[in-house]
Amino acid sequence: MATLEQIDKTRSPKSVAIIMDGNGRWARQRGMDRSEGHKAGIDSLHDSIEAAKWAGVKYLTVYAFSTENWNRPQKEVDTLMNLIAYAVELETPDMIRKGVRLGMIGDFSRVPKFAMDKLKWSIEQTKNCQDITLIIALSYSARWELVDTMQRLARQCVEGTIKPEEIDQEMISRNLTTSWYPDPDLLIRTGGEERISNFMLWQISYSELYFTPVLWPDFHHEQFYDAIVDYQSRERRFGKTSAQVQAEAGTK
Ligand code: IPE
Ligand code: IPE
Ligand code: MG
Repeated sequence: MATLEQIDKTRSPKSVAIIMDGNGRWARQRGMDRSEGHKAGIDSLHDSIEAAKWAGVKYLTVYAFSTENWNRPQKEVDTLMNLIAYAVELETPDMIRKGVRLGMIGDFSRVPKFAMDKLKWSIEQTKNCQDITLIIALSYSARWELVDTMQRLARQCVEGTIKPEEIDQEMISRNLTTSWYPDPDLLIRTGGEERISNFMLWQISYSELYFTPVLWPDFHHEQFYDAIVDYQSRERRFGKTSAQVQAEAGTK
């Protein structure tokens, strides 16, 4: 298992995203209710924020609840919303101490008011924190986001404020909910499934993907560092050849 010392902070990913999966299975393996897995997952999030900050990561996006998760049994949906509101309230003082700014992406129209109120409160409380930004993806899915963005751009075309031929990659990126921060350099998924589950489809075009069988409640500092060490062993070519990439690195 990796330690912080193994990480070259000059080459740390600036933006990391995590699909936090495996809470239910973790609880079931222990004969417990799925909700116990979600509760245990809060500690893992706490550890990942800390590890990310120490590793020099500036933006950490975590998939907390997908658009599709609204289809889970109502009892589980309620538990998750209550837990998110509770965790945000509990963690905010510690986030301020640690310099963690909170952000959010998702379809907030579907999030219950009590949870939204806590999230907005925490965003306000932490707005001047500068060490790392934690972005919670809540009621989020990439296809929802893309439809929302396309509708907005289409409306602007109809109104005549933009022309269809002016729509390019930059304009689309600027109109996504993630417009204000860099695309993930690294995407981690815990829990053993090797799929994206409708997460940040546009933004992960060139992200490095890291899948681990470790269930989210078992994912702590060391496991986060494992992912960073693995990331640092990769060569990001962005379509170029290895020789080109190495020549460019040599000239820097
Ligand atoms: C991830 O854990 C948390 C959410 C999706 C909200 P799961 O609840 O999906 O856990 P598994 O995949 O059933 O083990
Ligand atoms: C993805 O996990 C969503 C979150 C982690 C919030 P799921 O457990 O919902 O994904 P699937 O259903 O296995 O693809
Ligand atoms: Mg799951």
